[in-house]
Amino acid sequence: MPLNTEREQWGSKIGLILAVAGNAVGLGNFLRFPVQAAQNGGGAFMIPYFIFFLILGIPLMWIEWGIGRHGGRFNHGSAPGMFDVLWKHKLAKYFGTLGLFMSMVILIYYTYIESWTLGYSIFSITGYYFDQHTADAMRTFLYNYQGRATGEHFTGILPAYILMFITFGLNFWVLFKGISKGIEKLAKIALPLLLIFAAILAVRIMFLGTPDPSLPANSVWNGYGFIWNPNVSLLSDPKIWLAAAGQIFFTLSVGMGTIHAYASYLKPKDDIALSGLTTAATNGFAEVVLGAAIAIPVAVAFFGLQTTQEFAKGGAFDLGFVSMPLIFQRIPLGQVLGFLWFLLLFFAGITSSVAMGQPVIAFLEDEFGFSRKKAVGVLATVVLIAVQFVVFYQKYGFLNEMDYWAGTFGLVVFALVETVLFMWVFGAGKAWKEMNEGGDIQIPRVFYYLMKFVTPVVLFVLMIWWFVESAIPKLLLVGVPDVNKPYYWGSRALMVVIFIGLILLVRKAWQLKANKEESN
Ligand code: ALA
Repeated sequence: MPLNTEREQWGSKIGLILAVAGNAVGLGNFLRFPVQAAQNGGGAFMIPYFIFFLILGIPLMWIEWGIGRHGGRFNHGSAPGMFDVLWKHKLAKYFGTLGLFMSMVILIYYTYIESWTLGYSIFSITGYYFDQHTADAMRTFLYNYQGRATGEHFTGILPAYILMFITFGLNFWVLFKGISKGIEKLAKIALPLLLIFAAILAVRIMFLGTPDPSLPANSVWNGYGFIWNPNVSLLSDPKIWLAAAGQIFFTLSVGMGTIHAYASYLKPKDDIALSGLTTAATNGFAEVVLGAAIAIPVAVAFFGLQTTQEFAKGGAFDLGFVSMPLIFQRIPLGQVLGFLWFLLLFFAGITSSVAMGQPVIAFLEDEFGFSRKKAVGVLATVVLIAVQFVVFYQKYGFLNEMDYWAGTFGLVVFALVETVLFMWVFGAGKAWKEMNEGGDIQIPRVFYYLMKFVTPVVLFVLMIWWFVESAIPKLLLVGVPDVNKPYYWGSRALMVVIFIGLILLVRKAWQLKANKEESN
Protein backbone atom coordinates (compact mmCIF):
# COMPACT_ATOMS: atom_id res chain seq x y z
CA MET A 1 0.00 0.00 0.00
CA PRO A 2 1.72 3.20 -1.11
CA LEU A 3 1.58 5.18 2.09
CA ASN A 4 2.16 8.76 1.35
CA THR A 5 4.72 10.68 3.28
CA GLU A 6 5.16 13.65 0.99
CA ARG A 7 1.67 15.08 0.79
CA GLU A 8 0.84 18.10 2.84
CA GLN A 9 -0.84 17.61 6.17
CA TRP A 10 -3.01 19.56 8.51
CA GLY A 11 -1.07 21.30 11.27
CA SER A 12 -3.42 20.44 14.11
CA LYS A 13 -6.67 18.69 14.79
CA ILE A 14 -8.45 21.86 15.83
CA GLY A 15 -7.16 23.52 12.66
CA LEU A 16 -8.55 20.71 10.54
CA ILE A 17 -11.95 20.85 12.24
CA LEU A 18 -12.11 24.62 11.83
CA ALA A 19 -11.14 24.25 8.17
CA VAL A 20 -13.81 21.66 7.41
CA ALA A 21 -16.37 23.59 9.45
CA GLY A 22 -15.31 26.71 7.54
CA ASN A 23 -15.82 24.78 4.33
CA ALA A 24 -19.39 24.01 5.39
CA VAL A 25 -20.35 27.27 7.11
CA GLY A 26 -20.86 29.72 4.30
CA LEU A 27 -23.19 32.08 2.54
CA GLY A 28 -25.59 29.15 2.62
CA ASN A 29 -26.03 29.42 6.38
CA PHE A 30 -26.72 33.13 6.59
CA LEU A 31 -28.18 34.03 3.18
CA ARG A 32 -29.58 30.91 1.56
CA PHE A 33 -31.05 29.32 4.69
CA PRO A 34 -33.31 32.23 5.74
CA VAL A 35 -34.54 32.64 2.17
CA GLN A 36 -35.34 28.94 1.86
CA ALA A 37 -36.99 28.83 5.28
CA ALA A 38 -39.11 31.91 4.59
CA GLN A 39 -40.11 30.69 1.13
CA ASN A 40 -41.11 27.29 2.42
CA GLY A 41 -43.31 27.87 5.40
CA GLY A 42 -40.79 28.59 8.18
CA GLY A 43 -41.37 25.98 10.88
CA ALA A 44 -42.73 23.46 8.37
CA PHE A 45 -39.42 23.65 6.50
CA MET A 46 -37.49 22.76 9.65
CA ILE A 47 -39.09 19.30 9.96
CA PRO A 48 -37.80 17.85 6.67
CA TYR A 49 -34.63 19.87 7.27
CA PHE A 50 -33.84 17.93 10.46
CA ILE A 51 -34.92 14.63 8.94
CA PHE A 52 -32.59 15.10 5.97
CA PHE A 53 -29.81 16.29 8.25
CA LEU A 54 -30.02 12.93 10.01
CA ILE A 55 -30.50 10.58 7.09
CA LEU A 56 -28.48 12.40 4.43
CA GLY A 57 -26.31 15.13 5.92
CA ILE A 58 -24.52 13.29 8.70
CA PRO A 59 -24.13 10.00 6.77
CA LEU A 60 -22.74 11.83 3.73
CA MET A 61 -20.31 13.73 5.93
CA TRP A 62 -18.86 10.47 7.21
CA ILE A 63 -18.90 8.88 3.77
CA GLU A 64 -16.99 11.83 2.29
CA TRP A 65 -14.46 11.94 5.13
CA GLY A 66 -14.03 8.20 4.71
CA ILE A 67 -13.56 8.29 0.94
CA GLY A 68 -11.25 11.29 1.28
CA ARG A 69 -8.93 9.85 3.91
CA HIS A 70 -8.83 6.54 2.10
CA GLY A 71 -7.94 8.23 -1.19
CA GLY A 72 -5.27 10.34 0.50
CA ARG A 73 -3.49 7.16 1.52
CA PHE A 74 -2.98 6.47 -2.17
CA ASN A 75 -1.91 10.04 -2.93
CA HIS A 76 -5.26 11.11 -4.33
CA GLY A 77 -6.78 14.40 -3.16
CA SER A 78 -9.69 14.53 -5.59
CA ALA A 79 -12.59 12.33 -6.57
CA PRO A 80 -11.25 10.76 -9.83
CA GLY A 81 -8.34 9.10 -8.07
CA MET A 82 -10.39 8.31 -4.98
CA PHE A 83 -13.08 6.55 -6.99
CA ASP A 84 -10.43 4.71 -8.95
CA VAL A 85 -9.18 3.25 -5.67
CA LEU A 86 -12.67 2.28 -4.53
CA TRP A 87 -13.68 0.61 -7.76
CA LYS A 88 -11.20 -1.13 -10.00
CA HIS A 89 -12.94 -0.25 -13.20
CA LYS A 90 -11.80 2.03 -15.96
CA LEU A 91 -14.95 4.12 -15.70
CA ALA A 92 -14.55 4.85 -11.97
CA LYS A 93 -12.27 7.84 -12.46
CA TYR A 94 -14.69 9.44 -14.90
CA PHE A 95 -17.46 9.35 -12.32
CA GLY A 96 -15.02 11.18 -10.11
CA THR A 97 -14.95 14.03 -12.63
CA LEU A 98 -18.23 15.10 -11.05
CA GLY A 99 -16.32 16.00 -7.89
CA LEU A 100 -14.08 18.35 -9.86
CA PHE A 101 -16.96 19.79 -11.86
CA MET A 102 -19.30 20.68 -8.98
CA SER A 103 -16.63 22.34 -6.89
CA MET A 104 -15.20 24.29 -9.80
CA VAL A 105 -18.50 25.56 -11.19
CA ILE A 106 -19.75 26.58 -7.76
CA LEU A 107 -16.41 28.28 -7.08
CA ILE A 108 -16.92 30.46 -10.16
CA TYR A 109 -20.22 32.05 -9.18
CA TYR A 110 -19.98 31.68 -5.41
CA THR A 111 -16.79 33.71 -5.17
CA TYR A 112 -18.38 36.46 -7.22
CA ILE A 113 -21.28 36.67 -4.76
CA GLU A 114 -18.75 36.61 -1.93
CA SER A 115 -17.14 39.70 -3.44
CA TRP A 116 -20.41 41.61 -3.11
CA THR A 117 -20.32 41.01 0.63
CA LEU A 118 -16.88 42.58 0.76
CA GLY A 119 -18.23 45.57 -1.15
CA TYR A 120 -21.25 45.89 1.10
CA SER A 121 -19.12 45.76 4.24
CA ILE A 122 -17.35 48.85 2.92
CA PHE A 123 -20.65 50.50 1.90
CA SER A 124 -21.97 49.82 5.42
CA ILE A 125 -19.13 51.25 7.44
CA THR A 126 -18.99 54.32 5.18
CA GLY A 127 -22.78 54.66 5.18
CA TYR A 128 -22.76 54.72 1.39
CA TYR A 129 -26.26 53.29 1.02
CA PHE A 130 -27.71 55.07 4.02
CA ASP A 131 -29.67 57.43 1.78
CA GLN A 132 -31.70 54.60 0.23
CA HIS A 133 -34.77 54.28 2.40
CA THR A 134 -37.11 51.97 0.52
CA ALA A 135 -36.89 48.38 -0.65
CA ASP A 136 -37.09 49.51 -4.26
CA ALA A 137 -34.28 51.99 -3.77
CA MET A 138 -32.07 49.42 -2.03
CA ARG A 139 -32.77 46.91 -4.78
CA THR A 140 -31.82 49.49 -7.39
CA PHE A 141 -28.63 50.16 -5.44
CA LEU A 142 -27.82 46.42 -5.58
CA TYR A 143 -28.60 46.19 -9.28
CA ASN A 144 -26.52 49.23 -10.04
CA TYR A 145 -23.63 47.79 -8.09
CA GLN A 146 -23.97 44.57 -10.08
CA GLY A 147 -23.84 46.58 -13.28
CA ARG A 148 -27.39 45.72 -14.34
CA ALA A 149 -28.13 49.40 -14.71
CA THR A 150 -26.41 52.64 -13.88
CA GLY A 151 -27.45 55.01 -11.17
CA GLU A 152 -26.22 57.78 -8.96
CA HIS A 153 -24.08 55.53 -6.72
CA PHE A 154 -22.52 53.47 -9.46
CA THR A 155 -21.96 54.68 -12.97
CA GLY A 156 -20.61 51.34 -14.08
CA ILE A 157 -19.56 47.91 -13.02
CA LEU A 158 -15.98 48.90 -12.19
CA PRO A 159 -16.31 48.83 -8.37
CA ALA A 160 -17.91 45.36 -8.46
CA TYR A 161 -15.29 44.26 -10.94
CA ILE A 162 -12.38 45.43 -8.80
CA LEU A 163 -13.83 43.79 -5.69
CA MET A 164 -14.34 40.61 -7.67
CA PHE A 165 -10.64 40.58 -8.56
CA ILE A 166 -9.59 41.31 -5.00
CA THR A 167 -11.77 38.49 -3.71
CA PHE A 168 -10.51 35.97 -6.24
CA GLY A 169 -6.98 37.17 -5.59
CA LEU A 170 -7.36 36.53 -1.85
CA ASN A 171 -8.79 33.09 -2.51
CA PHE A 172 -5.98 32.07 -4.81
CA TRP A 173 -3.38 33.48 -2.47
CA VAL A 174 -4.72 31.34 0.39
CA LEU A 175 -4.78 28.31 -1.90
CA PHE A 176 -1.25 29.03 -3.01
CA LYS A 177 -0.06 29.13 0.61
CA GLY A 178 -1.29 25.58 0.97
CA ILE A 179 -3.20 23.37 3.35
CA SER A 180 -1.79 24.21 6.76
CA LYS A 181 -0.21 27.60 6.02
CA GLY A 182 -3.10 28.87 3.91
CA ILE A 183 -6.45 27.18 4.40
CA GLU A 184 -5.94 26.17 8.02
CA LYS A 185 -4.57 29.55 9.05
CA LEU A 186 -7.47 31.34 7.39
CA ALA A 187 -10.02 29.08 9.09
CA LYS A 188 -8.44 29.57 12.50
CA ILE A 189 -8.97 33.31 12.21
CA ALA A 190 -12.10 33.63 10.10
CA LEU A 191 -14.36 30.95 11.56
CA PRO A 192 -14.20 32.07 15.23
CA LEU A 193 -14.53 35.69 14.15
CA LEU A 194 -17.58 35.08 12.03
CA LEU A 195 -19.25 33.08 14.78
CA ILE A 196 -18.58 35.94 17.21
CA PHE A 197 -19.95 38.52 14.76
CA ALA A 198 -23.04 36.38 14.20
CA ALA A 199 -23.57 35.97 17.94
CA ILE A 200 -23.28 39.74 18.46
CA LEU A 201 -25.85 40.37 15.74
CA ALA A 202 -28.21 37.66 16.99
CA VAL A 203 -28.14 39.04 20.54
CA ARG A 204 -28.51 42.63 19.37
CA ILE A 205 -31.50 41.62 17.26
CA MET A 206 -33.11 39.79 20.16
CA PHE A 207 -33.03 42.99 22.19
CA LEU A 208 -34.85 44.87 19.45
CA GLY A 209 -38.05 43.17 20.62
CA THR A 210 -40.93 45.11 19.11
CA PRO A 211 -39.37 48.20 17.48
CA ASP A 212 -42.70 49.91 16.90
CA PRO A 213 -45.09 49.34 19.85
CA SER A 214 -48.04 50.43 17.72
CA LEU A 215 -47.42 47.34 15.54
CA PRO A 216 -47.20 44.54 18.12
CA ALA A 217 -47.23 41.76 15.50
CA ASN A 218 -43.96 43.07 14.12
CA SER A 219 -41.59 41.65 16.69
CA VAL A 220 -38.51 39.48 16.73
CA TRP A 221 -40.52 37.01 18.81
CA ASN A 222 -42.94 36.49 15.94
CA GLY A 223 -39.93 35.98 13.70
CA TYR A 224 -38.66 33.18 15.94
CA GLY A 225 -42.19 31.81 16.12
CA PHE A 226 -42.37 31.67 12.35
CA ILE A 227 -39.25 29.50 12.21
CA TRP A 228 -39.92 27.32 15.21
CA ASN A 229 -43.71 26.75 15.17
CA PRO A 230 -44.35 24.35 12.34
CA ASN A 231 -47.61 24.44 10.47
CA VAL A 232 -47.64 20.70 9.78
CA SER A 233 -50.41 20.94 7.21
CA LEU A 234 -47.83 22.42 4.81
CA LEU A 235 -45.79 19.23 4.87
CA SER A 236 -47.93 17.66 2.18
CA ASP A 237 -46.26 20.03 -0.29
CA PRO A 238 -43.37 18.17 -1.96
CA LYS A 239 -41.69 21.48 -2.74
CA ILE A 240 -40.86 21.96 0.93
CA TRP A 241 -39.17 18.57 1.13
CA LEU A 242 -37.09 19.18 -1.96
CA ALA A 243 -36.08 22.62 -0.74
CA ALA A 244 -35.02 21.22 2.64
CA ALA A 245 -32.94 18.47 1.03
CA GLY A 246 -31.32 21.02 -1.27
CA GLN A 247 -30.43 23.20 1.68
CA ILE A 248 -28.85 20.29 3.58
CA PHE A 249 -26.60 19.51 0.63
CA PHE A 250 -25.55 23.06 -0.02
CA THR A 251 -25.01 24.09 3.57
CA LEU A 252 -22.98 21.04 4.56
CA SER A 253 -20.99 21.20 1.30
CA VAL A 254 -21.76 17.55 0.63
CA GLY A 255 -21.90 16.28 -2.94
CA MET A 256 -19.32 18.88 -4.00
CA GLY A 257 -16.03 17.05 -3.72
CA THR A 258 -14.59 19.53 -1.24
CA ILE A 259 -14.85 17.50 1.98
CA HIS A 260 -13.03 14.64 0.27
CA ALA A 261 -10.18 16.91 -0.70
CA TYR A 262 -9.73 18.20 2.85
CA ALA A 263 -9.96 14.71 4.35
CA SER A 264 -7.28 13.43 1.97
CA TYR A 265 -4.67 15.37 3.96
CA LEU A 266 -5.38 13.34 7.10
CA LYS A 267 -3.08 10.64 8.35
CA PRO A 268 -4.49 7.12 7.91
CA LYS A 269 -5.28 6.72 11.59
CA ASP A 270 -6.57 10.22 12.29
CA ASP A 271 -10.07 10.35 13.68
CA ILE A 272 -12.90 10.98 11.26
CA ALA A 273 -15.89 9.71 13.22
CA LEU A 274 -15.92 12.49 15.80
CA SER A 275 -14.46 15.14 13.49
CA GLY A 276 -17.12 14.53 10.85
CA LEU A 277 -19.84 14.79 13.43
CA THR A 278 -18.31 17.91 14.97
CA THR A 279 -18.18 19.71 11.65
CA ALA A 280 -21.77 18.80 10.81
CA ALA A 281 -22.84 19.97 14.26
CA THR A 282 -20.89 23.23 13.98
CA ASN A 283 -22.51 23.94 10.67
CA GLY A 284 -25.92 23.11 12.11
CA PHE A 285 -25.30 25.46 15.02
CA ALA A 286 -24.22 28.27 12.70
CA GLU A 287 -27.34 27.74 10.63
CA VAL A 288 -30.25 26.96 12.92
CA VAL A 289 -29.07 28.84 15.99
CA LEU A 290 -27.24 31.83 14.50
CA GLY A 291 -28.45 31.97 10.88
CA ALA A 292 -32.06 31.56 11.97
CA ALA A 293 -31.74 34.31 14.57
CA ILE A 294 -30.65 37.12 12.24
CA ALA A 295 -32.22 37.85 8.85
CA ILE A 296 -35.74 36.54 9.44
CA PRO A 297 -36.50 37.78 12.98
CA VAL A 298 -35.15 41.25 12.29
CA ALA A 299 -37.06 41.53 9.03
CA VAL A 300 -40.28 40.42 10.75
CA ALA A 301 -39.65 43.01 13.49
CA PHE A 302 -39.31 45.85 11.02
CA PHE A 303 -41.50 44.84 8.11
CA GLY A 304 -43.90 42.18 9.40
CA LEU A 305 -44.15 38.53 8.45
CA GLN A 306 -45.88 38.98 5.13
CA THR A 307 -43.37 41.47 3.75
CA THR A 308 -40.51 39.28 5.02
CA GLN A 309 -41.87 36.37 3.01
CA GLU A 310 -42.25 38.64 0.02
CA PHE A 311 -38.61 39.65 0.37
CA ALA A 312 -37.65 35.98 0.38
CA LYS A 313 -39.79 35.29 -2.67
CA GLY A 314 -38.34 38.33 -4.40
CA GLY A 315 -35.01 36.62 -4.86
CA ALA A 316 -32.11 34.88 -3.29
CA PHE A 317 -30.42 38.09 -2.27
CA ASP A 318 -33.22 40.37 -1.17
CA LEU A 319 -33.22 39.38 2.50
CA GLY A 320 -29.45 39.81 2.81
CA PHE A 321 -28.74 42.75 0.52
CA VAL A 322 -32.00 44.70 0.55
CA SER A 323 -33.84 44.11 3.79
CA MET A 324 -30.78 44.03 6.07
CA PRO A 325 -29.32 47.32 4.78
CA LEU A 326 -32.70 49.00 5.27
CA ILE A 327 -32.75 47.80 8.86
CA PHE A 328 -29.20 48.96 9.56
CA GLN A 329 -30.32 52.45 8.61
CA ARG A 330 -32.92 52.34 11.35
CA ILE A 331 -31.00 51.06 14.34
CA PRO A 332 -28.33 52.69 16.50
CA LEU A 333 -24.78 51.81 15.42
CA GLY A 334 -26.24 50.57 12.16
CA GLN A 335 -23.07 51.30 10.19
CA VAL A 336 -21.02 49.12 12.52
CA LEU A 337 -23.61 46.35 12.67
CA GLY A 338 -23.95 46.41 8.89
CA PHE A 339 -20.19 46.16 8.60
CA LEU A 340 -20.19 43.14 10.93
CA TRP A 341 -23.01 41.48 8.98
CA PHE A 342 -21.34 41.75 5.60
CA LEU A 343 -17.89 40.97 6.94
CA LEU A 344 -19.26 37.87 8.59
CA LEU A 345 -20.72 36.87 5.24
CA PHE A 346 -17.38 37.50 3.60
CA PHE A 347 -15.52 35.35 6.13
CA ALA A 348 -18.16 32.63 5.82
CA GLY A 349 -17.84 32.83 2.04
CA ILE A 350 -14.08 32.74 1.75
CA THR A 351 -13.59 29.76 4.07
CA SER A 352 -16.02 27.90 1.76
CA SER A 353 -14.72 29.13 -1.58
CA VAL A 354 -11.11 28.14 -0.89
CA ALA A 355 -12.45 24.63 -0.29
CA MET A 356 -14.06 24.72 -3.74
CA GLY A 357 -10.70 25.49 -5.31
CA GLN A 358 -8.86 22.69 -3.56
CA PRO A 359 -10.17 19.62 -5.48
CA VAL A 360 -8.92 20.82 -8.88
CA ILE A 361 -5.62 21.95 -7.38
CA ALA A 362 -5.15 18.59 -5.67
CA PHE A 363 -6.05 16.87 -8.93
CA LEU A 364 -3.40 18.77 -10.89
CA GLU A 365 -0.79 18.22 -8.18
CA ASP A 366 -1.49 14.57 -7.49
CA GLU A 367 -2.30 13.27 -10.94
CA PHE A 368 -0.10 15.50 -13.13
CA GLY A 369 2.67 16.27 -10.66
CA PHE A 370 2.15 20.03 -10.99
CA SER A 371 3.71 22.30 -8.39
CA ARG A 372 1.22 24.08 -6.17
CA LYS A 373 2.04 27.35 -7.88
CA LYS A 374 1.38 25.95 -11.33
CA ALA A 375 -1.83 24.21 -10.23
CA VAL A 376 -3.18 27.41 -8.66
CA GLY A 377 -2.15 29.36 -11.75
CA VAL A 378 -4.04 27.04 -14.09
CA LEU A 379 -7.18 27.06 -11.95
CA ALA A 380 -7.03 30.84 -11.53
CA THR A 381 -6.73 31.38 -15.28
CA VAL A 382 -9.71 29.21 -16.15
CA VAL A 383 -11.89 30.51 -13.34
CA LEU A 384 -11.13 34.15 -14.11
CA ILE A 385 -12.07 33.64 -17.74
CA ALA A 386 -15.30 31.83 -16.84
CA VAL A 387 -16.36 34.40 -14.26
CA GLN A 388 -16.46 37.12 -16.92
CA PHE A 389 -19.64 35.58 -18.29
CA VAL A 390 -21.14 35.41 -14.82
CA VAL A 391 -20.35 39.06 -14.13
CA PHE A 392 -21.68 40.41 -17.39
CA TYR A 393 -24.61 38.08 -17.99
CA GLN A 394 -25.84 37.64 -14.43
CA LYS A 395 -28.88 39.76 -15.14
CA TYR A 396 -29.97 37.32 -17.83
CA GLY A 397 -29.95 34.34 -15.47
CA PHE A 398 -26.47 33.00 -16.27
CA LEU A 399 -25.60 32.57 -12.59
CA ASN A 400 -28.94 30.99 -11.64
CA GLU A 401 -28.52 28.35 -14.29
CA MET A 402 -25.10 27.36 -12.94
CA ASP A 403 -26.47 27.34 -9.41
CA TYR A 404 -29.25 25.01 -10.42
CA TRP A 405 -27.21 22.38 -12.27
CA ALA A 406 -24.03 22.42 -10.22
CA GLY A 407 -25.23 23.81 -6.89
CA THR A 408 -28.52 21.95 -6.56
CA PHE A 409 -29.25 19.07 -8.90
CA GLY A 410 -25.63 18.02 -9.38
CA LEU A 411 -25.03 17.64 -5.64
CA VAL A 412 -27.62 14.89 -5.37
CA VAL A 413 -26.21 13.09 -8.39
CA PHE A 414 -22.68 13.14 -7.06
CA ALA A 415 -23.83 12.15 -3.57
CA LEU A 416 -25.70 9.16 -4.99
CA VAL A 417 -22.71 8.03 -7.04
CA GLU A 418 -20.29 8.23 -4.13
CA THR A 419 -22.66 6.50 -1.71
CA VAL A 420 -23.21 3.58 -4.06
CA LEU A 421 -19.51 3.32 -4.82
CA PHE A 422 -18.44 3.38 -1.19
CA MET A 423 -21.21 1.37 0.47
CA TRP A 424 -21.93 -1.13 -2.30
CA VAL A 425 -19.03 -1.40 -4.73
CA PHE A 426 -16.18 -0.93 -2.27
CA GLY A 427 -18.34 -2.73 0.28
CA ALA A 428 -20.27 -1.63 3.34
CA GLY A 429 -18.11 -3.70 5.68
CA LYS A 430 -14.84 -2.18 4.47
CA ALA A 431 -16.37 1.28 4.30
CA TRP A 432 -17.62 1.00 7.86
CA LYS A 433 -14.21 -0.10 9.04
CA GLU A 434 -12.58 2.79 7.18
CA MET A 435 -14.91 5.37 8.72
CA ASN A 436 -14.35 4.03 12.23
CA GLU A 437 -10.60 3.49 11.94
CA GLY A 438 -8.77 5.62 14.49
CA GLY A 439 -12.05 7.13 15.60
CA ASP A 440 -12.33 9.04 18.86
CA ILE A 441 -15.87 7.65 18.96
CA GLN A 442 -17.54 4.66 17.37
CA ILE A 443 -20.17 5.68 14.86
CA PRO A 444 -23.50 4.32 16.19
CA ARG A 445 -24.33 1.10 14.39
CA VAL A 446 -27.68 2.39 13.19
CA PHE A 447 -25.77 4.59 10.73
CA TYR A 448 -24.36 1.50 9.06
CA TYR A 449 -27.86 0.57 7.96
CA LEU A 450 -28.77 4.15 7.19
CA MET A 451 -25.73 4.58 4.95
CA LYS A 452 -26.14 1.25 3.26
CA PHE A 453 -29.87 1.28 2.62
CA VAL A 454 -31.66 4.48 3.54
CA THR A 455 -29.25 7.13 2.28
CA PRO A 456 -28.85 5.72 -1.26
CA VAL A 457 -32.56 5.02 -1.65
CA VAL A 458 -33.50 8.50 -0.45
CA LEU A 459 -30.89 10.01 -2.75
CA PHE A 460 -32.22 8.05 -5.69
CA VAL A 461 -35.81 9.06 -4.99
CA LEU A 462 -34.75 12.69 -4.58
CA MET A 463 -32.83 12.66 -7.81
CA ILE A 464 -35.74 11.29 -9.80
CA TRP A 465 -38.21 13.54 -8.06
CA TRP A 466 -36.07 16.58 -8.64
CA PHE A 467 -35.58 15.62 -12.22
CA VAL A 468 -39.30 15.44 -12.87
CA GLU A 469 -40.31 18.40 -10.68
CA SER A 470 -37.70 20.90 -11.68
CA ALA A 471 -34.98 19.63 -14.00
CA ILE A 472 -37.33 18.95 -16.89
CA PRO A 473 -39.02 22.37 -16.73
CA LYS A 474 -35.59 23.97 -16.32
CA LEU A 475 -34.27 22.10 -19.32
CA LEU A 476 -37.23 23.24 -21.35
CA LEU A 477 -36.69 26.81 -20.13
CA VAL A 478 -40.23 27.07 -18.84
CA GLY A 479 -40.97 30.62 -17.72
CA VAL A 480 -37.69 32.03 -19.05
CA PRO A 481 -38.21 35.21 -21.08
CA ASP A 482 -37.14 34.86 -24.70
CA VAL A 483 -34.42 37.48 -24.39
CA ASN A 484 -32.76 35.46 -21.64
CA LYS A 485 -32.82 32.11 -23.41
CA PRO A 486 -29.53 32.51 -25.30
CA TYR A 487 -27.79 33.26 -22.00
CA TYR A 488 -29.21 30.13 -20.39
CA TRP A 489 -27.85 28.18 -23.32
CA GLY A 490 -24.58 30.04 -22.95
CA SER A 491 -24.40 29.07 -19.31
CA ARG A 492 -25.04 25.45 -20.23
CA ALA A 493 -22.45 25.57 -22.97
CA LEU A 494 -19.88 26.88 -20.52
CA MET A 495 -20.66 24.06 -18.10
CA VAL A 496 -20.45 21.47 -20.85
CA VAL A 497 -17.09 22.85 -21.96
CA ILE A 498 -15.81 22.69 -18.38
CA PHE A 499 -17.12 19.17 -17.95
CA ILE A 500 -15.62 17.86 -21.17
CA GLY A 501 -12.35 19.62 -20.41
CA LEU A 502 -12.19 17.87 -17.05
CA ILE A 503 -13.02 14.48 -18.56
CA LEU A 504 -10.19 14.92 -21.07
CA LEU A 505 -7.79 15.89 -18.31
CA VAL A 506 -8.72 12.82 -16.31
CA ARG A 507 -8.14 10.67 -19.36
CA LYS A 508 -4.80 12.30 -20.03
CA ALA A 509 -3.65 11.86 -16.43
CA TRP A 510 -4.35 8.14 -16.50
CA GLN A 511 -2.72 7.75 -19.91
CA LEU A 512 0.42 9.38 -18.56
CA LYS A 513 0.36 7.09 -15.54
CA ALA A 514 -0.03 4.04 -17.77
CA ASN A 515 2.90 5.13 -19.97
CA LYS A 516 5.04 5.69 -16.91
CA GLU A 517 4.23 2.28 -15.50
CA GLU A 518 5.03 0.68 -18.85
CA SER A 519 8.41 2.34 -19.12
CA ASN A 520 9.33 1.32 -15.54
N1 ALA B 1 -21.53 25.03 2.41
C1 ALA B 1 -21.24 26.26 1.84
C2 ALA B 1 -22.26 27.27 2.19
O1 ALA B 1 -23.13 27.01 2.99
C3 ALA B 1 -21.09 26.12 0.37
O2 ALA B 1 -22.25 28.33 1.71
